[in-house]
Amino acid sequence: MIIRTEQDVTNAVLAEVERAPSPRFREIMSAAVRHLHAFAREAKLTEAEFHQICGHIARLGQLTTASHNEVVLSAGSMGLSSLICLLNNGDHGQTETTANLMGPFWRQGSPATENGGSIVRSPTVGDPIFVNAWVRDNGGSPVAGAQVDVWHTSADGYYENQDPEQADMNLRGTFTTDETGHIWFSSVKPAGYPIPISGPVGELLKAQGRHNMRPAHIHFMIHKPGYKTQFSQVYSADDPHLETDVQFGVTQALIGQYVLHANEPAPSPDVKGPWYSLDHHFIIEPGEAHLPKPPITGKSQAPRPQRAVLKA
Ligand SMILES: [Fe+2]
Repeated sequence: MIIRTEQDVTNAVLAEVERAPSPRFREIMSAAVRHLHAFAREAKLTEAEFHQICGHIARLGQLTTASHNEVVLSAGSMGLSSLICLLNNGDHGQTETTANLMGPFWRQGSPATENGGSIVRSPTVGDPIFVNAWVRDNGGSPVAGAQVDVWHTSADGYYENQDPEQADMNLRGTFTTDETGHIWFSSVKPAGYPIPISGPVGELLKAQGRHNMRPAHIHFMIHKPGYKTQFSQVYSADDPHLETDVQFGVTQALIGQYVLHANEPAPSPDVKGPWYSLDHHFIIEPGEAHLPKPPITGKSQAPRPQRAVLKA
């Protein structure tokens, strides 16, 4: 088509999309083209602004490595990861769900660990915590034999992949639910943490005057054939950033009680002094068990990054 008007461009691209043999591809691609072109029209995007956006997207890819995923971080910071999760879980957004965004820090293949075991694999600062989690189906029956992958930060706010001072796979482990759908393990209580701001995600946060903190949480991933694989996170109810999570992840179903036990004997005799407990329930739905491609695959060899905190 010879382009005569600005509307001709949109029509020409949509006509090409129609040639694709896959109906689902056509549906996604035509919606993307329609909304992208509408976005440019609504924002009256200038050429300079368009070049700036292209540079931003290019740098999202250039900064993504085996141990860091700037693309997933960016999707979370714009609320897209949460939106996709809520559109696809809880009976397609009709009911409350314990599903949550995957985040950029899931690594596949964390060590299989017996229930009751510890996921502290090298000396790690933080108060001891004992976690119990139960998995049920949406009819209320316990789900036995589900694989539950767990990962979280140390008390100073670093995942092991960001921190050469932690052992490989520290604070990560995979458990299997027993007949009552129960897993249990010990670890150290995680801290809230600032997401990295050395790249384009940080630039957008600064431009909006936003802080870069996530409330303290533990990540879970529940996987069993016959059920939709569920990523989840359980957030600490007393965290000051619960209402303003930079990744927009906190939902009512995922606010957990990290309970301090100041003067009680701990479940493990090795632990003296104060400790925390967390008990939480997850509900998984029937569906296809599918593991996404992990956002990262390894551990950084660079010194751990500076803790950079933006003020809102
Ligand atoms: Fe996290």
